[in-house]
Amino acid sequence: MKKIKVNVEPESYEIFIGNGIFKNISIEIKKRKLFRSILIVIDKNVYDIYKKEIVTVFGNYNYKLEILVLEIDEKRKSFESLDKIYSKLIENKYGRDSLIIAIGGGIIGDIVGYAAATYMRGIQYVQIPTTLLAMVDSSVGGKTAVNFGETKNVIGAFYQPRLVLIDTDFLKTLSTDELVCGIGEIVKYAFITDEQYYNYFKRNIDRLFGLDEKVITKIIYQSVLFKAGVVEADEKETGIRKILNFGHTFAHAFEVEQNHRIKHGQAVIAGIICALYLSEGIGILDNIKLNEYLKFIYPMKKYINIEEPDTKKLLDIMSRDKKNKDGKIKFVLLNGVGNIAIDIEAERIQVEKAINKMKKFVE
Ligand SMILES: NC(=O)c1ccc[n+]([C@@H]2O[C@H](COP(=O)([O-])OP(=O)(O)OC[C@H]3O[C@@H](n4cnc5c(N)ncnc54)[C@H](O)[C@@H]3O)[C@@H](O)[C@H]2O)c1
Repeated sequence: MKKIKVNVEPESYEIFIGNGIFKNISIEIKKRKLFRSILIVIDKNVYDIYKKEIVTVFGNYNYKLEILVLEIDEKRKSFESLDKIYSKLIENKYGRDSLIIAIGGGIIGDIVGYAAATYMRGIQYVQIPTTLLAMVDSSVGGKTAVNFGETKNVIGAFYQPRLVLIDTDFLKTLSTDELVCGIGEIVKYAFITDEQYYNYFKRNIDRLFGLDEKVITKIIYQSVLFKAGVVEADEKETGIRKILNFGHTFAHAFEVEQNHRIKHGQAVIAGIICALYLSEGIGILDNIKLNEYLKFIYPMKKYINIEEPDTKKLLDIMSRDKKNKDGKIKFVLLNGVGNIAIDIEAERIQVEKAINKMKKFVE
């Protein structure tokens, strides 16, 4: 089992990565002296598959315990789901000394984090991510949010979990499509971390798809370690943390423009392709590197099911992105692997060109 500590105020927390470690959850809660009144909020699909394991792990729990099973998707990453969590907490008289455990992918993690941040001005929460995307990215760093209407993650808070327990066994039941979503975020880490990580990922992509335990653990560990360092340096995203948004300005716009028919991680791959073309278009990335990077992404393009995007609508959506400043769209772009440029403005025509080139690339 691997361990990473995230040093943030007011309290640092640990991340555990390993296989078969979910069964240790109550021991870890006890060790950390976390609150014993627990509400488990779990994705319905995950509950349907892992009900037996959940019952085994929590069956003899001696303190207050309720389970809330939520049906989720990007449209239900909303006040409707938050309402269900708050109602359950209030109906069952959960006080400030309560702990919510989120079991599921990034959607459950983000909603639960926001519910924990706001219920009684903040209660404890633990993340148990069950998708690759949530393991490598969303369960760590304390960004919590729900969508509002057409705008993604616009209502939220920075609020750190008290523990993150990553059990890679959950990945065995994940569909290839969902695996690809996690790989989308890993591609992001490959570009923003360094050459060593980029080359390791490039060499091991087939083993990653095959869920090779050694490769999967190393990749999750490296991604989370990198993210933890960035979060420690800039928890509230005023500077360096913006690099984690590489590809995401485009990605969030694709998700909304495609009416959420495209999954987040797939949109991230499409967004990274646009960001690469835009980096080259504005002259910060040379053509040789661009072609090398596109070759690296090429095997993943078949997973991007994007229907003829409306470029004007995409630009409108991007202009509402919360990372913008003074009414200008701000992009995170790339000079080369491990060399990221933040807060870059681009002409509308350049952005349109980048989107059109991406469309051709994935055809
Ligand atoms: N907070 C952050 O820093 C951050 C970072 C990246 C992404 N996100 C957010 O994460 C969300 C996407 O997360 P996601 O890709 O995990 O999607 P998700 O939560 O929708 O999960 C994807 C699908 O996989 C199913 N599933 C989950 N675990 C499973 C398992 N073990 N076996 C079988 N099926 C399983 C779910 O039911 C769902 O249908 C987006 O809303 C995005 O905005 C947040």
